[in-house]
Amino acid sequence: MFSSEGGVKTPGKEEMKRMKENEVMSYQIDPRTQQQKTTEYNLISLTRKICMEEDIQEESLAEFKERRLGGWGLLQLTAGTGLAVYAMWAGILMPGFRRVPLKLQVPYIPASKRQVQNVMTLLKSRSGGLADLGSGDGRIVLEASQLGFSPAVGYELNPWLLWLARFHAWKTRNYGRVSYRREDLWKVDLSGYKNITVFLAPSVLPLLQEKLLVELPEDALIVAGRFPFPDWTPCSIVGEGVERAWAYQIQALRGHNQSKGIKMTVESS
Ligand SMILES: C[S@@+](CC[C@H](N)C(=O)[O-])C[C@H]1O[C@@H](n2cnc3c(N)ncnc32)[C@H](O)[C@@H]1O
Repeated sequence: MFSSEGGVKTPGKEEMKRMKENEVMSYQIDPRTQQQKTTEYNLISLTRKICMEEDIQEESLAEFKERRLGGWGLLQLTAGTGLAVYAMWAGILMPGFRRVPLKLQVPYIPASKRQVQNVMTLLKSRSGGLADLGSGDGRIVLEASQLGFSPAVGYELNPWLLWLARFHAWKTRNYGRVSYRREDLWKVDLSGYKNITVFLAPSVLPLLQEKLLVELPEDALIVAGRFPFPDWTPCSIVGEGVERAWAYQIQALRGHNQSKGIKMTVESS
């Protein structure tokens, strides 16, 4: 079974036959009990099987080593993987975001039931139009519409989420009452909305502060979920931890800026 080079060698047909005959003979003249003999026979067969399997594994490994990737193959593999990841990002996770600068791209993370409730608590006693900036699957717009906000509009760039939002509206018989628009929130004119909701990343909030201060009417209220606006003082807060939501009155914010001599400007892109 072992070759002269020290490696494991598969026994040939003749050798196997001889081994089997020896085994049978020693088995016949062996004085041990039938059960002992059977156990030993089974052990020998198992050992032989393992040796043969090791041979096959070594052969496959040698074959694989011979076919190792060269530099060009590695480059192709890397490029292919990169392309697949990009296609997944651009086509499934962030479609419609090609024209939005990378630092302003916010991925989809839906608000929890508690977060939606907290936002609605802060909107109590409010009325008029509402816009959710980055509306995802439309859950906030839908809830706001059921509380009587009209028009209730969601701005979203991801077409899959827009489709899902419309489907939810249709399923809950609210299709005509809500509206989901495929528009970049940075380019929407918000001057007609008295109520704004945002569930966005902290990285984009400083820029959004400027846009809201310039565009919103004097009696507007902004509700932010998950992350507060970095430079503003809220008029009320509801919830704890990641479920927390903050409300801001635009009038108070402008008054504060005026008293500090801060000018409102928005750079056009
Ligand atoms: C954190 S999710 C919040 C979704 C939803 N408001 C909710 O609370 O369930 C942010 C959403 O904003 C959308 N979004 C990000 N940037 C946008 C942009 N420039 N214009 C429109 N939608 C945007 C994303 O596609 C994503 O669905």
